[in-house]
Amino acid sequence: RRLVCCSETASTNSDAFHLAEEGAEEGTVVLADRQLAGKGRLGRRWESPAGVNLYCSVVLRPELPPYEAPQLTFLSAVAVARAIHTSTGLQPVIKWPNDLLLNGRKVAGLLNEMNAETDRVGFVILGIGVNLNMREDQFPPDLRSPATSLLLETGSAVVRQAFAVNLLRELEREYLRFTQNGFGPVREDWTRYCNAFGREVRVEMGPHTLQGPFAGIDHDGALLMTLPDGRIERILSGDVTVI
Ligand code: BTN
Repeated sequence: RRLVCCSETASTNSDAFHLAEEGAEEGTVVLADRQLAGKGRLGRRWESPAGVNLYCSVVLRPELPPYEAPQLTFLSAVAVARAIHTSTGLQPVIKWPNDLLLNGRKVAGLLNEMNAETDRVGFVILGIGVNLNMREDQFPPDLRSPATSLLLETGSAVVRQAFAVNLLRELEREYLRFTQNGFGPVREDWTRYCNAFGREVRVEMGPHTLQGPFAGIDHDGALLMTLPDGRIERILSGDVTVI
């Protein structure tokens, strides 16, 4: 399988996307030391300074209908949580849909991009950014939500290559389990790591806000919330706060 390592690129996700369009096989990985235009969710930037963090994108070609592709985001969140645990002994929690937090601060983010034909997924790019050795003064002052790194949480630096190996191993294991056993086991693990299960959450969706107990995720990865009248609302995107 192909592993592309570059010292500098605009975005490993964009590189992986182009490689996949040219036919790159499943399992192709792009890593960069630094990204000049790292992409975050909802059109945001992902701060990507040189030498300190992990910026990784993986090409997958799952046999899935496009509406089930979000399942891979949950799968990658579980794999990143495991890799962080293996590398540091710390147990991150997952904030729906795909932020990883340590002590309430964001340590990793996921951005998956899909190329779909109408009835099946062509390919999916799993984009993973993990703050490994970033120091306090390297975070931009205007971050929307508090961020941290493994160095800041543990006091010791993480060897980037070793972390990348752990992560790719966990991803491969989760993906094989997913292709064999489907989304059920992934959803169970995701729910175990999720910070909101059974708790009251507020979800902001543009001008609308909904509040209620978090009731898990469904087959498509939608957030389930119990409304006051007992109905279950499915929420596909929004910012979640645990109250
Ligand atoms: C988020 O939480 O907003 C998602 C951040 C995803 C960042 C990673 S870093 C590697 C890959 N390449 C990108 O341009 N973005 C993702």
